[in-house]
Amino acid sequence: MASAMDEDKVMEFLGRVVTDAGAAVAGLCTSLGDRLGLYTAMAGAGPLTSAQLAEKTGLTERYVREWLAAQVAGEYVVYDGDRDGYLLPDEHAAVLADPSAPTYAAGFLTMMQALYGSEDALMEAFRTGEGVGWEEHSAALFAGTAKFFRPGYTGALVSEWLPAMNGTTAKLERGGEVADIGCGFGYSTMLMAQAYPKSHFHGFDFHQPSIDAARQIAQEQGLADRVSFDVATAQDFPGDGYDLVTFFDCLHDMGDPGRALAHAQQALAEDGSCMIVEPNVSADVTENINPIGRAVVSASVAVCLPSALAQHGPQTLGNHAGEAAMRDLADGAGLHHWKLAAESPVNRVYAASR
Ligand SMILES: C[S@@+](CC[C@H](N)C(=O)[O-])C[C@H]1O[C@@H](n2cnc3c(N)ncnc32)[C@H](O)[C@@H]1O
Repeated sequence: MASAMDEDKVMEFLGRVVTDAGAAVAGLCTSLGDRLGLYTAMAGAGPLTSAQLAEKTGLTERYVREWLAAQVAGEYVVYDGDRDGYLLPDEHAAVLADPSAPTYAAGFLTMMQALYGSEDALMEAFRTGEGVGWEEHSAALFAGTAKFFRPGYTGALVSEWLPAMNGTTAKLERGGEVADIGCGFGYSTMLMAQAYPKSHFHGFDFHQPSIDAARQIAQEQGLADRVSFDVATAQDFPGDGYDLVTFFDCLHDMGDPGRALAHAQQALAEDGSCMIVEPNVSADVTENINPIGRAVVSASVAVCLPSALAQHGPQTLGNHAGEAAMRDLADGAGLHHWKLAAESPVNRVYAASR
């Protein structure tokens, strides 16, 4: 006989799903606030009326008022009824208003536009087993991915991750050569270039629009003298004698990450190393039951696994293959020395060398 359902548990879980659905819809409003400059305009401005915010942003007051009501409902913005003022607390501005801040977290929402847009293609891929290539998603994925990862790199790449790569910072201070593979918009490349003006940084990605964006940002940041960005796959990027070859949140997206690592190994200077940055999630699915694990593994369903499948290689890792799988691949590529160099809530950073 079937056991009776626990009605309290049903209602509790229903509440959970309603909360999640609310967050999913509210995410669109967060993305609108991010992309329309509403959070930036509210940051440090004190309480503003909807008319003042509309004037400051050049947007339509009626839409802005509706958006503010949603922000109050989500407790992102505080409403003062006596003054009809809407306040973005400084602590919330630190997370929503400045894409260059290490605590900025609104970039993820830009990705959502692309991922929901890919839902039909993903349904078809589930049925056929074919991939959905990185380039098949809409442009919001490329910009959103860059915005999502940038704060974590800003907060730790130069201050913690590079110093944890044995001897690398001394080489970069003297003047070294670095290849950043799967660089996307190149924020990782440019952060390193800002810190080490005597070195040269070469960003490679197989996605032309990302390389175009990276070149433009490098120009705007005045870094064009020491960074270059070119279209190349991880398996055939040019150059050799690199002191450092980096893979930021991209190795698991590849169909043949082993060949990418083998190519990197051959391109290293004798005492060079690879920095492999991967999401901080576990191969044990029960260890990912937390907000970051949930977001990252869900992104694997929508982007990482389909990307690897579209490359028709021997591997379909997903983004939570775990350290042992990565270490095996590196070992097979001739990178026999391996260590966990650093860790953040979002990333694990591995150092691999011959
Ligand atoms: C998740 S994004 C990460 C981008 C960037 N490294 C970052 O951290 O913001 C993965 C990147 O890997 C690139 N990529 C995937 N497979 C590749 C391959 N086989 N060769 C070169 N680039 C590849 C994609 O074009 C994309 O820019």
